Amino acid sequence: MTILSTIWLLPLFTFIYVNGVLPIEATHHVYRELESLSSDEYSTNQPYRTGYHFQPPKNWINDPNGPLIYKGVYHLFYQYNPKGAQWGNIVWAHSVSTDLINWIPLDPAIFPSQPSDINGCWSGSTTILHGNKPSILYTGINKLNHQVQNLAYPKDFSDPFLREWIKSPENPVIEPTSENKINASSFRDPTTGWLGKDGKWRGIVGSKRSTRGIAILYKSKDFVKWKKSKHPLHSAKGTGMWECPDFFPVLKNGIKGVDTSLNDDYVRHVLKVSLDDKKHDYYLIGSYDEEKDRFVPDRGFEEVEIEEVFRYDYGKYYASKTFFDYEKNRRILLGWVNESSSIPDDIKKGWSGIHTIPRTIWLHESGKQLVQWPVVEIEKLRVNHVNLPTKLLKGAELLQINGVTASQADVEIAFEVNKNTIGEAEVLEKLPDPQILCSQKGTSVKSGLGPFGLFVFASKGLQEFTSVFFRIFGFQNKNIVLFCSDQSRSSLNKDNDLTSYGTFIDVDVLHEKLSLRTLIDHSVVESFGGEGKACITARVYPTLAVNDKALIYAFNNGTTDVKITSLNAWSMKKARLNGKL
Ligand SMILES: *[C@@H]1O[C@H](CO)[C@@H](O)[C@H](O)[C@H]1NC(C)=O
Ligand SMILES: *[C@@H]1O[C@H](CO)[C@@H](O)[C@H](O)[C@H]1NC(C)=O
Ligand SMILES: *[C@@H]1O[C@H](CO)[C@@H](O)[C@H](O)[C@H]1NC(C)=O
Repeated sequence: MTILSTIWLLPLFTFIYVNGVLPIEATHHVYRELESLSSDEYSTNQPYRTGYHFQPPKNWINDPNGPLIYKGVYHLFYQYNPKGAQWGNIVWAHSVSTDLINWIPLDPAIFPSQPSDINGCWSGSTTILHGNKPSILYTGINKLNHQVQNLAYPKDFSDPFLREWIKSPENPVIEPTSENKINASSFRDPTTGWLGKDGKWRGIVGSKRSTRGIAILYKSKDFVKWKKSKHPLHSAKGTGMWECPDFFPVLKNGIKGVDTSLNDDYVRHVLKVSLDDKKHDYYLIGSYDEEKDRFVPDRGFEEVEIEEVFRYDYGKYYASKTFFDYEKNRRILLGWVNESSSIPDDIKKGWSGIHTIPRTIWLHESGKQLVQWPVVEIEKLRVNHVNLPTKLLKGAELLQINGVTASQADVEIAFEVNKNTIGEAEVLEKLPDPQILCSQKGTSVKSGLGPFGLFVFASKGLQEFTSVFFRIFGFQNKNIVLFCSDQSRSSLNKDNDLTSYGTFIDVDVLHEKLSLRTLIDHSVVESFGGEGKACITARVYPTLAVNDKALIYAFNNGTTDVKITSLNAWSMKKARLNGKL
């Protein structure tokens, strides 16, 4: 505790100065940035505030809501407590951007004001209706504390910032009734609507019946009067409440995104659900039969173990949402990352929750899984490029990556395993849970091939470090790759959640390079393994490896050498997360 409170006192100027390398391109930029610091932003002086991952100046945030692009402006709405650092008093806060990186806060778009939302304005989505008219569908908590779905429109469609929203006089437009047997406490998070070939809008609302998770389907001609379909779009027993469903098409071939309503021979469909019981975002790839209005997954929750269903992220990540960026023809994914610190620590620092860097998302050429990669705009923040030549990393070797601001950086590294040493890989008899395997072995158990990867937020002498790494195993005459993010030694403050995360990742190490990209930002480590085939986001709060005290290393703690085939690292400039118009 004492260490933490001392660090909070470090003023912003010290931070900039001490990090002599912290890049500031032009002075006018600096002034603008300081001007935007109102007294409200006292908390920007803290060591765990992010430099380029979205967060408001203070207070609690959770789900991203209804992201969209309108008249060239990106809109991010999000669940926000205007009164404190814990969940409560939820409104739709609103920020806008032209590049998905620098954001300007506006007044909340939706807040409790009518009987159908007087006890809360929870998550929902935007849909662009005919004539390029955006609309919001969101969950309101009504006078009876029932969850109902409400509709809102912009007051002025000519305003690219969509500052004011008007609620439909027809609200609620969808409600649970005793007749439709919907549980009024488990009925929320309407999706973006999509248009069927019959000209009717469709949308789903997350729910459950007993322990069966359900995506209840609604149809409408005018987006105002909605009729529940006889069958849900999809459901699965034993999965519990489905929160924040997301349903969208992806091209079979190619990385471009497509409109949410597209359904032809060139696309597959994705259904993502946030499982309330597991607190993770799972996705299914399958076909959408428009005649029957059903989604049929290739490998569904009832066909395989839940641990075998793909997740967007194997770390801290929840309540994500995509949108189609029709200006750049890509689908973009946003997600919420909660804190790993204790509630008293969150209250002390005055804030809780951040969002990931927006990620472009597409179907891998195998058709089996999705791929995610940080939006290209993030690369504008890169400065001080460090490039290391190809290098053999011996067993038990540590290589410091100098020349970048290690607490605010972007690091890309790729490894190659020598075909002649592949036999050194430890053999597994059966496949254990990858997360457990990561935490049991950490970085301190040596094996033939691995662990190798990065130490980030490392203190001098390695009293503190977060490791992101791979281990290669032999299993049934094949090689499998384990991808881990280990927080167990990330902080001397043991009040934090120090869980290690991990997953197996589908990379053929005999024929492919094993790559890792990590976005490091004060208290977040957002990692992309195998060129975006698996993501792990972690929250860490080092007490020693803070700001300019943080170091980055590439490491190999296995017994066999591995080759670093490329290593590029950059300091990241601060983004204007709460700039002014
Ligand atoms: C309805 O959902 C709530 C919230 O999960 C749950 O506590 C309650 O048991 C459910 N009611 C029924 C009848 O299933
Ligand atoms: C947030 O973090 C805590 C502990 O670090 C975890 O147990 C919890 O499930 C998380 N909540 C969500 C919604 O992700
Ligand atoms: C590397 O491995 C050795 C021996 O297994 C272990 O003692 C050491 O702690 C490991 N290093 C790290 C940083 O985990």
